[in-house]
Amino acid sequence: MIVLGIETSCDETAVAIVDEQKNILSHALNSQIDLHQKFGGVVPEVAARSHIEVLDGLILQALKDAKLDFKDIDAFAATSGPGLIGGVIVGMMAAKTLASVFQKPFIAINHLEAHALTARLTSDLEFPYLLLLISGGHCQILLARNINDYKKLGETIDDALGEAFDKVAQMLGLPYPGGPAVEKMALQGNCNRFKFSRPLIDGYAKNEHLCNFSFSGLKTAVRREIEKLTGENFSHFSTPQKINDRDKQDICASFQRTACEIIMNRLENVDRSQLNLKKLVIAGGVAANRYIFSELQNWAKKHDLEVIAPPIKLCTDNAVMVAWNGVEKMRRGITDELNFKPRARWELGDLILNPDPPLESSIISTKP
Ligand code: KG4
Ligand code: ZN
Repeated sequence: MIVLGIETSCDETAVAIVDEQKNILSHALNSQIDLHQKFGGVVPEVAARSHIEVLDGLILQALKDAKLDFKDIDAFAATSGPGLIGGVIVGMMAAKTLASVFQKPFIAINHLEAHALTARLTSDLEFPYLLLLISGGHCQILLARNINDYKKLGETIDDALGEAFDKVAQMLGLPYPGGPAVEKMALQGNCNRFKFSRPLIDGYAKNEHLCNFSFSGLKTAVRREIEKLTGENFSHFSTPQKINDRDKQDICASFQRTACEIIMNRLENVDRSQLNLKKLVIAGGVAANRYIFSELQNWAKKHDLEVIAPPIKLCTDNAVMVAWNGVEKMRRGITDELNFKPRARWELGDLILNPDPPLESSIISTKP
């Protein structure tokens, strides 16, 4: 069985073809980073227009690279939410059209589930597993029990972790997307120089707020430190002028260490007594961060867990994960109707029952 998957929910247009034997037959991708960099975040209208311009070409490219024809594809899958709605519509309509023309099933993919399942493509991984989903729009701890079956154990009450990385980068004048830039700067930095507060942890009893996160206060703590160092007050759209590279490196390293401590503290609050959980999967763009991965590996050893993360290029948004999610669903006979509505919001904890939410629009968003 061969599935073609399309990803257009944010700033990557991507098409991949994956088969049931876990072969990635092709992956054609166009990143929009250059288009959005000058705005410091993704502009939804610009993103949607760019998806329209390049998607057809990427579909043909993916088929050519895989040496396949449309008629060889058994199902067409596309991210149908959550995400920037203009982009989601572009990819979803393309997949529906192909499904209709070639009389093959259409599969609506939840972008978060696609991240969650990637490790099953790249490793030998069975359900159930503990899932740490850390991306530009989400920060959640989930129990992955099966396809379409996730239990949310905790989530951020404000910013996502990737969003916090992006905002710290913006405050330091580092380029978008901020995560990789912060990670690179942190390599040269002293992670013990600054003691940033850990929201929902410091000042609370161990079991309070259990597995929930808050990164907004951490971001503010970083801002205050920068203001102290430079003596400057800076607004959301300006960056301090007087900050030197040594301070930038130490801030990035200290921020990253604090973020790691927060994650580990929250994972320790998961009640594993009733569950025979042996594997922790890290998924989403922030899972590409090697410092976080290796810190979590050390932590996990002490807690009798094995940490699994997909290869870096499959942690950030891609279409391989969408096609693979399509394979996983096809194998179980799960397909969707052509009247499936695109979803700006679509929770993973209640994949089936979630009602169609109202459409939303915004001018600039760092991530969906
Ligand atoms: O999963 P993703 O590609 O898109 C969403 O679904 O949100 O995640 C993008 C996020 C961005 O916030 C980006 O800064 C962050 O992942 N990210 C990283 C790294 N690479 C990407 N954060 C920390 N370290 C990285 N190496
Ligand atoms: Zn993503």
